[in-house]
Formats: sequence, structure tokens, C-alpha cells
Amino acid sequence: MNCDRRQMIGSLAALALSACGPKTNNENSGPGTPTSTMKQEPFGKLQDGTAVNLYTLTNAKGVTMTVTNYGGRITSLKVPDKSGKMEDIVLGFDNLDGYLAENPYFGALIGRYGNRIGGAQFKLDGKVYHLAKNDGPNSLHGGIKGFDKVFWAGSDVSAKDAQALSLRYVSNDGEEGYPGTLTSMVTYTLTSNNELKIEYVATTTADTVLNLTNHSYWNLAGAGSGDILKHQMTIEASKFTPVDKTLIPTGKLENVEGTPFDFRKATAIGERIEKDDQQLKYGKGYDHNYCIDGADGSLKRCAQVTDPSTGRSMEILTTQPGVQFYTGNFLDGTIKGKGGKVYGHRGAFCMETQHYPDSPNKPEFPTTVLKPGQEYRQTTVYRFTTG
Ligand code: GLA
Repeated sequence: MNCDRRQMIGSLAALALSACGPKTNNENSGPGTPTSTMKQEPFGKLQDGTAVNLYTLTNAKGVTMTVTNYGGRITSLKVPDKSGKMEDIVLGFDNLDGYLAENPYFGALIGRYGNRIGGAQFKLDGKVYHLAKNDGPNSLHGGIKGFDKVFWAGSDVSAKDAQALSLRYVSNDGEEGYPGTLTSMVTYTLTSNNELKIEYVATTTADTVLNLTNHSYWNLAGAGSGDILKHQMTIEASKFTPVDKTLIPTGKLENVEGTPFDFRKATAIGERIEKDDQQLKYGKGYDHNYCIDGADGSLKRCAQVTDPSTGRSMEILTTQPGVQFYTGNFLDGTIKGKGGKVYGHRGAFCMETQHYPDSPNKPEFPTTVLKPGQEYRQTTVYRFTTG
């Protein structure tokens, strides 16, 4: 509702809650009611006593998303199926304790460097930087205490037509071995068109490397409803980055043509996942970076995933050159998530839009170097429709 309309109503109560006035936290009337501010409630405390929030974003179509500022984690996203039934399609936990315990990055923001850096080190401006080896010999997803495990300052930046949460984190020079004080701002927007838009902006005080992403685990039939092997996947990529046995890219860009990695036409995720293929063996399934066709820094469609049983479909657009397609190969049924549901093997897939893994050690890959005075800017949109 815009300001003119509100004034036409002439109700003092409406004016008190008006989008034109100062924002309050009690403007939310629940799903389906477009409001200018989001619901914000306590979600528990970190070990050092820091209070963490849970934010609820809602759009006019009744889609709701919850996010906590611990690790910038998306804790739920409820979207309709072909008959209008809402279901939560992201894996996660009911409370903060679940996220504080060991888990594979459910819903999290990943930084400073999403994916792997080979040998847990890189050279920049002639100096070697050493990182934590938290994945065999390599460094994965930012190290021991990556952006998935830090407190982000949250602010409501909702507009009249879309609720939005902005998260800010300042990573100190040397944190997890990376140079430069890095200020990152990530904004989650839930649009009226059933899109989740994630915008990443960052600046640094010294030359550094950076690769931010989000690690949500999706199951379009509903989190905890079984595996995702029947989901139909399309990835608009003619090449991918093959890896060695520790999942570090060899440096080559390989054609997907004639391999189980060709998803240029919609194909069930499970159709070729057990094929006798060295790359699939290394990944224990799909755990590979695709080089998005025609990537030029503008917002481009890179993938579409559909669950035939519910008709839920997710389209992905990104400004990034790559996307890591991961089929939840390390999920093994030991994690119980929301509502006590068990997350079994391949019970979700991830589409982590990103720069290619190990780019700091691969000068032939698009650069991940960020310098003082430059602004890092990336956008990814997950658009939900029904078939
Ligand atoms: C990424 C990696 C996977 C795995 C998951 C978390 O997707 O590529 O190999 O580490 O994160 O379990």
C-alpha cells in the first residue's frame, strides 16, 4: 500500500503503522500482508553472550523466508507447489543450537573464499598466505571460522514492495589468514515476484582474494522429504572445471558434451550420477563447478531445477562466472533437522554461484583479487515458479 492510499483511508491507526513513518517491528500482520518492515525476534545467544535474531521476510503472495544473522543463514523458505501448497524447501534447524553444532554449512553465507583453495595457501603480490587446512590438504569455505560462523549486524532495508534484510560483517586484516580488512554487506530481498535476491558488496583495505556465496541446501519437494534424484536439472554451461581427487580443479576447462556433466537439456539429477566416471567418483556424485555460458558480469540465467512431483521450480540467475553443483553427497542421515526430519543421502542439492575454485592459484581463471578502491559486487537471484 502506498502513502497516498494510506492517507485516503484516513485512519489514524493506519497512519501510525504507515510505511511513510518510522519503521517499527510490530508492523507485521503475517503472511500475505505486504508490509514495509519485517518481523524480528530473538533466536538465542552465542557463547560470548551476543544475542542473535531471526528475521522473517514475507511477500504479498504469502511466501516467507526466515534468516538468522548468525552466519547469515537462511533457515526456512516456504514457497507454493502447483496446487498452492506451501512447503519449506531448505534444510536447516529449528533453533540456534542446531546451527552452532557441527553441520555442513546449512543455509550459510560463505566467505572469505567459497569452495577450495589448493594446499591451503596462495600467493598474492609476491607474498605467500597460509590458510587453515580444514578439508584434507586444502582450505574450504573460508577456514575454521568462516563467514558461516560469524555474527552479522542485521538491518531492515525493506522497501514498499519488497522486504529486505541487510547483513554487515567486518573481517579483520589477517582473519583466517586472509590479508586486508574486508567489509562485506549482503542483502537478502524477497520480491513480490517470488524471487530471493542476494546482493553481495565488499571493500578491502589491502589487496586480497574473495569469493562470496550462499550454501543453501534445496529440496523442492520439501526439506526432509527424500532424495532429489528425480529433480530435473538444467545448467547452461558447456564446460566445467574437472578436479583432482581432493576436489581441486586441474586448471583445464572440459567440455560437458558426451559426459554425465551435460545438463544443457533438462535431465534428472539421478539419471547418470552412478555412472562409472572418474570425476563422479572423486565428487562421490556431483560436486563440481560449472563455467556458465556467456558469463560477462551481467545478471544471466544459469540454471533451472524442477521437481516433477510438486511442480515447484527454481530458476537461478547470477552475475558470477561459475556455479558449484553439489548433490548432498556427504549427507548420510545422521543429521536430524527441522521437525525432527532426517536429512538422508542426496536429500538436497546446492547451487553455489561463485568464481571457480582455487582461482587464487590459477591465473588462467577469472580473477578473485580485490584491491583497495575497488568494490566487489555480485548478485544472484533464485526465482520460484510452479509448472
Ligand atoms: C561444498 C563442497 C562440498 C562439501 C560441501 C559441504 O559444496 O564443494 O565438497 O564440502 O560444501 O559439505
